[in-house]
Amino acid sequence: MSRKGILLAGGAGTRLDPLTRIVCKQLLPIYDKPMIYYPLSVLMLGGIREILIISTPKDLPMIRTLFGDGSQLGLKIDYVEQARPEGIAQAFRLGADFLAGEGATLMLGDNIFHGRLDFFRTALAREQGATIFACPVRDPERYGVVEFDGEGRAVSIEEKPTVPRSNYAVPGLYVYDGQITEIARDLQPSPRGELEITDVNREYLKRGELFVEPLGRGVAWLDTGTPESLMEAANYIATLEHRQGVKVACLEEVALHMEFIDGAGFDRIVAALPKNSYRAYLEELPR
Ligand code: DAU
Repeated sequence: MSRKGILLAGGAGTRLDPLTRIVCKQLLPIYDKPMIYYPLSVLMLGGIREILIISTPKDLPMIRTLFGDGSQLGLKIDYVEQARPEGIAQAFRLGADFLAGEGATLMLGDNIFHGRLDFFRTALAREQGATIFACPVRDPERYGVVEFDGEGRAVSIEEKPTVPRSNYAVPGLYVYDGQITEIARDLQPSPRGELEITDVNREYLKRGELFVEPLGRGVAWLDTGTPESLMEAANYIATLEHRQGVKVACLEEVALHMEFIDGAGFDRIVAALPKNSYRAYLEELPR
């Protein structure tokens, strides 16, 4: 399976206006870090170092300012603009050069996971087909909804169904093999005019190659779609970090842990940080 990742961080941001009138959703704070740190840390913990970040012409420069070319974290980050939010699956058309026919993991920049990431590593180890994840929720009608059999093969997948066939929502993390570029190229816009990620998954389903990994109870998938859920996500992270004294999605720590950078590279990043509690946390890490 390819080791390339796409982080999609665009969108209209209308649901959270006026919060997102100036700064895009993915740069809003989740407690002590910008939201985009959380999905980026997931890609990194999957061992993915070649990453394409896609965002709007307005927001992309800000994200570029945040991460640069990624080399300080041992990453290689490229950037592409999405001129208009024409659907999640457009990411693969915009990223066709970056992918060069290889498979890819797509992660939505507003999805936050916490817990053991074995489910993701299992998906990355699969050579062929597509893997999506399934998380039980109380309000499946707000998401892509998947039904699957005992062997983890998808039976049906629908985008925001009025009458959901299961209570399993599909989070914004998708692992695809090399068929993805061709499937995205041939996709037709949906009635709402978007290239739907669910239609990509449906095509894999048609080919008998859509696998589903359910998230266990030890994994939290947090919502960030409303002001209330943003606050809840921030409280969740704050509670954990206070209680345990360890940070979630601290990118410098993740880069060191994954050996993307060595102790000297880590010290260089820390030395450049302003003196505050984030820096103090990094200074105390064993290396
Ligand atoms: O969060 C998981 C859900 O994400 C899945 O269960 C759904 O199947 C999937 O369609 C998506 O649903 P949303 O209703 O959250 O999609 P939304 O249009 O809000 O887009 C999700 C994120 O992707 C959002 O942060 C904005 C970004 N985005 C979206 C579109 C349509 C882009 O960057 N570009 C786009 O063109």
